Amino acid sequence: MHSTVLSVFENHLPRRLRFGRGASGELAVEICRLGRSRPLIVTDAGVKAAGLLEQVSGSLTRAGMQFSVFDRTEPEPPFACVTAAVESARNTGRELDVVVALGGGSVIDTAKLVAATLLDGREAHLLAGIGKVERRALPLVCIPTTSGTGSEATPVAIFTDPLTGLKVGVVDPCLVPDMVILDPALTDRLPPLPTAAAGMDALVHAMEAFIARSATPLARGLALEAARWIGPALPVVCRDGGDKSARDAMMLGANLAGMAFANSSCCAVHALALPLGGRFHIVHGVATGCLAAETMRHNLPVCLEDVGNFADALGWRDIDPHGFPDKLASLAGAIGLRASLRATRVPDSALAELAREAVANRRLMDPNPRPINEAEATEIYRRTLQADA
Ligand SMILES: [Fe+2]
Repeated sequence: MHSTVLSVFENHLPRRLRFGRGASGELAVEICRLGRSRPLIVTDAGVKAAGLLEQVSGSLTRAGMQFSVFDRTEPEPPFACVTAAVESARNTGRELDVVVALGGGSVIDTAKLVAATLLDGREAHLLAGIGKVERRALPLVCIPTTSGTGSEATPVAIFTDPLTGLKVGVVDPCLVPDMVILDPALTDRLPPLPTAAAGMDALVHAMEAFIARSATPLARGLALEAARWIGPALPVVCRDGGDKSARDAMMLGANLAGMAFANSSCCAVHALALPLGGRFHIVHGVATGCLAAETMRHNLPVCLEDVGNFADALGWRDIDPHGFPDKLASLAGAIGLRASLRATRVPDSALAELAREAVANRRLMDPNPRPINEAEATEIYRRTLQADA
């Protein structure tokens, strides 16, 4: 029985989704279904080195489809990365009619703005903020190669200002892709740390989407279903990357979590994590995974019932809601995220500035179930960074 009063809301989802081992081999068929035939593949050096570009583009070649490739997407991309991709695509002299993202969050975010600006020449950095993109002339197909970011399901693209280290969000419903191909086989050889970081980030996406003040009913349902897949699979896939059913579950769970926060919001864990990524280059999922425990300790008094339901969905039935933050902390330790965080020294003197930046991110702080001021944010950073120092 629901007692919450409903307010006005919207939901946005990718138009079509195809899941299955080997599904990326059907890319040419999917492009034809969109009525297109000249793809630009946006990817990065890591995806290429892992042989995934060859694997996926091979299916296009076999179908007799010509394509162009931009493989220089940078991690934590600056807007200049979009400009470089657009210039490189124009230099091919080909009339490209669909953009395909093959990679993790950085690649997918870059491809979103390439699809929005390739034909009309708008400058990507002018689209920062909420609702400024307005149109995307080219269809967008996303094929994630990690299980975590959920970017293939969201209207959000995150870029970094290389001068200040500040993270900038571009948010617009027209960035939600037309087509998503989820092929878990593409993640089978992902090394342990990216597997753990992306997987924990997906768990945090589902958790924040569930507790956010802006959660829509659809998002809450998606978040619980995401938790049911991620909860059992995450420790397994971190222990044994060769476990195919755990890989499958993580790819599905991460996508469900992406659709959840696309129709709700991420909250304080992400507001606190972004400055750590921008200024200290801490891997996004390491930052969110490690910050989750202390942030939830702060949130707990106002969302005990939600935390209980979410823990249940994860399969964490051995704890009561008060034990939830400790369980998050021990999971982050067990899967190697805390060790990775320790490798970067974040001086105490930096915490106040990090906290200022995090609290100023109203897009992510306003939906958090309990307000966080700069002193509280500083304390969350301090406890997280010193947890086992
Ligand atoms: Fe995230």
